[in-house]
Amino acid sequence: MEVFIRRLPKVELHLHIEGSLEPELMFEMAERNGISLPYSTIEEARNAYQFEDLQSFLNIYYQGANVLVTERDFFDLTWAYLLRCKADNVIHTEIFFDPQTHTARGIAFDTVINGIFHALRQGEKELGITSKLIMCFLRHLSEEEALETLAQAEPHLNRIVAVGLDSSEIGHPPAKFQRVFTKALAMGLKTVAHAGEEGPASNIWDAMNLLNVSRIDHGVQCTEDPVLVADLAKSRMPLTVCPLSNIKLRVFDSMSDHNILTLLDQGLCVTINSDDPAFFGGYMTDNFLAVNNALHPSRSQLVQLTRNAIEASFISDEEANTLNAALDEFWANHGNDA
Ligand code: ADE
Ligand code: ZN
Repeated sequence: MEVFIRRLPKVELHLHIEGSLEPELMFEMAERNGISLPYSTIEEARNAYQFEDLQSFLNIYYQGANVLVTERDFFDLTWAYLLRCKADNVIHTEIFFDPQTHTARGIAFDTVINGIFHALRQGEKELGITSKLIMCFLRHLSEEEALETLAQAEPHLNRIVAVGLDSSEIGHPPAKFQRVFTKALAMGLKTVAHAGEEGPASNIWDAMNLLNVSRIDHGVQCTEDPVLVADLAKSRMPLTVCPLSNIKLRVFDSMSDHNILTLLDQGLCVTINSDDPAFFGGYMTDNFLAVNNALHPSRSQLVQLTRNAIEASFISDEEANTLNAALDEFWANHGNDA
């Protein structure tokens, strides 16, 4: 099964590029940019990655992002992630970036997006990995600040497929961002939002009804509300679930308590994603393996998770057909492996 999982073509829909900053690269960038870190060794940094909840993680995550200064830093960060994608057989990825984490430190919006975008373009050319870019608003900041960020993005709209909403869910519900999401939709962008990660099921309803989202990021708290679960199954509203993240941030006590396969069996469009892999103990293959070891999915369930991600992605029907054909070929060759 492990070989099957390693070879399985994968599609990632929930990845914060700043959350893929491995301590090795963090130290390298800190040195070249003359920035001091609160850790003296890589091991000390890794040891500090123990979290009680989302906020305790976010404090460390924003601190790590301080080393990202130049266009080259954003390029190197994204390129390192794409090499991990290649190793994990990720064939398409839709990644988040948090411009406000950087513009608040005086880094130009253009520096951030140019570095990320050039790496994505090189990834398509040299690694054959297709990609899309999603710009997230930090929900602990004001809607006015989100509107300013949307204005900064205007010259780059051809590089951005959607806006998202991340950071501290509790105390910052979807309603706070209704105006900026309405504006983004009018500009031709799609919308997604983190909802029902730590926060209540009502945030999932509000993300759908007030922000018109095409996907819910996380969404695992939907089980609080059986009417919502039935609605998600019927509408096939995708949930971008992040199993290792949920364990590290104590959303579930252990992987054997995770509800991803129950939701899959109930007909929801659930997908597996890595969220912030440098902090949570692994990339796409690691997430699939962790689910496999605790919950023992069948091969057809594992393939269905990629099938769902293709359905939930922002690619054209033609591109989706190409990815589904790759998955069909994989199933024909490996569906019956011993
Ligand atoms: N930013 C980075 N990772 C996040 C997560 N899991 N939830 C909310 N905001 C985030
Ligand atoms: Zn996330």
